[in-house]
Amino acid sequence: MVTIEGLDRDFTCDKGDLILRAALRAGLGFPYECATGSCGTCKYELLVGHVEDTWPEAPGIRLRDREHGRYLACQSKATGPIVIRVRLDERLRPPIPPRRSVATISGRIYQAPGYSELKLQISDEGAEFLPGQFILIEFPGLTGARAYSMSNQPNTDGVLQLHVKAKQEGIMSNLLVSESPIGTKLIVDGPYGHAFARLEDSRPVVCIAGGSGLGPMLSVAGALALTPLASQRSVDFFYGVRTPAEVCDLSDLRKQAEAFGRWGLHVAVSDKPDNSWNGLVGMIDQIVQVHLPMPWSNSLFYIAGPPPMVDAVVRVLLTCQVSHEQLIFDRFY
Ligand code: FES
Repeated sequence: MVTIEGLDRDFTCDKGDLILRAALRAGLGFPYECATGSCGTCKYELLVGHVEDTWPEAPGIRLRDREHGRYLACQSKATGPIVIRVRLDERLRPPIPPRRSVATISGRIYQAPGYSELKLQISDEGAEFLPGQFILIEFPGLTGARAYSMSNQPNTDGVLQLHVKAKQEGIMSNLLVSESPIGTKLIVDGPYGHAFARLEDSRPVVCIAGGSGLGPMLSVAGALALTPLASQRSVDFFYGVRTPAEVCDLSDLRKQAEAFGRWGLHVAVSDKPDNSWNGLVGMIDQIVQVHLPMPWSNSLFYIAGPPPMVDAVVRVLLTCQVSHEQLIFDRFY
């Protein structure tokens, strides 16, 4: 049992469950962003009892925090009844409480060197999530979980589609992109994330994706295209990768975009390309600055990609009088 100081309710933490996940399963607005130990957003102070720290070297927590009895909720488990101090936020209550399921790799489409579109089949359940959210994957034999966003739409068939990029030292990403055979079983836990599509919001939309941030932006744009507001909506979609070879297939996106009243697709590469590339060249934050039609003050911006890319885009937007309220993003660590 976990008691939050000053709150008139407790929540149960099943044996072996992480404190953050248990809190969200209970529907609480526990603060978090990455859910994988990197950002430090889920820190809490342990007042009574003991916890097991599942990743003592996690980059999201410093020695100074430890000296003050602070832990990461996404990397600690209660070993008995505990009392913690953390500030909950009603706005962070999960719209769909996460759950843990077994899934099977059911398909894989090669997209670009080091990129695959992966299909996972959840056993006996629908794929319930909001477009833009992510799941945590645990691979048999590997320690810890990795976060991957869905690129498809929620469905009753239990299919999760993910855009996965192989990282140089990422054992799990390499297994997912190419090495593990179809039929491999995994654990998926989700949905997580606050950067989901606000389908009722009628403002012009700008989606900005860097690298594997393409997945959640495809899901958001696809969901917007299915709403009754689509024909009145203006959508600009920015997608940046390093080289032309890394540009993934956008044909489904182009088809879905026919539903929008106004549509702009801006694909850019950051490394100097050879003569065969006739698209945009530059970092995606600079491309947005130059190619996004004004005014920006009434648009909603969805951003997904590696933290330096997201930070650079956010900086540009804020200096151009976009407000925090207009920005929706989760950083991929
Ligand atoms: S949410 Fe726990 S460290 Fe990021």
